Amino acid sequence: MEADIDRVLISRQQIAQRVRELAEQITGRYRQCPGGLVIVSILSGAIIFLADLIRQLPLPMKIGLVGVSSYPGCNTTSQGPELLRQLRVDIRNRHVLVVDDILDSGRTLRYVLDELRQAGPASLSVCVLLQKPGKFPPDLAPDFVGFDIDDVFVVGYGLDYDDQYRNYPDIAVLKRELYAAADKAKTAGA
Ligand code: XMP
Repeated sequence: MEADIDRVLISRQQIAQRVRELAEQITGRYRQCPGGLVIVSILSGAIIFLADLIRQLPLPMKIGLVGVSSYPGCNTTSQGPELLRQLRVDIRNRHVLVVDDILDSGRTLRYVLDELRQAGPASLSVCVLLQKPGKFPPDLAPDFVGFDIDDVFVVGYGLDYDDQYRNYPDIAVLKRELYAAADKAKTAGA
C-alpha cells in the first residue's frame, strides 16, 4: 500500500487532533438537546471518522446508516448518487447530525439531505471531515468541517479508490499512474 502513495496530505496525528476539536464543538452544540441526538452517517467512506468521532461525544445518541455510492469502482468523478441502503432509524422530531467523510461535488449530501428532510427531523446539521471549497454549492456549507483540501482525489482514513486504501491511516494522494491506468482502462472499455 505504501508504495502506491504519492504524498500524505493530512497525517494521522493532525486528524486525531482535529477530531477532538470537532467533538468539543459538537458536544457544545448538542449538550442541552432534549431527547438526544441521531447521528446519520453515510457508508462507506465515513466509517473510520464516525467511529473516532462518536467515541468522543459524551451525549445520548442513536446511530443510523445510509448507503450511497457515487464513485463506484475506478471512478474519480461523481457518477451521481445511488441509494444502496436505507435509513432504519426514526428521525421524526429528532435532532439529526449527518456525518460524512468528504464534501466534493455535493451531489451525495444534497441527495441524503433531501431524503432526510422528508422524514421530518426537528433539526438537520452536517459534519464533514474534508471539504473541497468551491466545488459544491454554497447552500450546502456544512456546520462542522475538519479540513479544507484542494481538488485532488484522496484516499485513506476510510476513503477509497476502487474499494482499496480505506485502512491507510493518513489522508493521502495516490501516485498519478494508478489513477491514469484506471482512466485508460475505462476509456478502452467505453
Ligand atoms: P460528492 O461529489 O457527491 O462526493 O460530494 C461525496 C462522496 O463521494 C466520495 N468521494 C471521494 N472518495 N476520495 C474518495 O476516496 C475523494 O477525493 C472523494 N471525493 C468524493 C465520498 O464517499 C464522498 O462521501
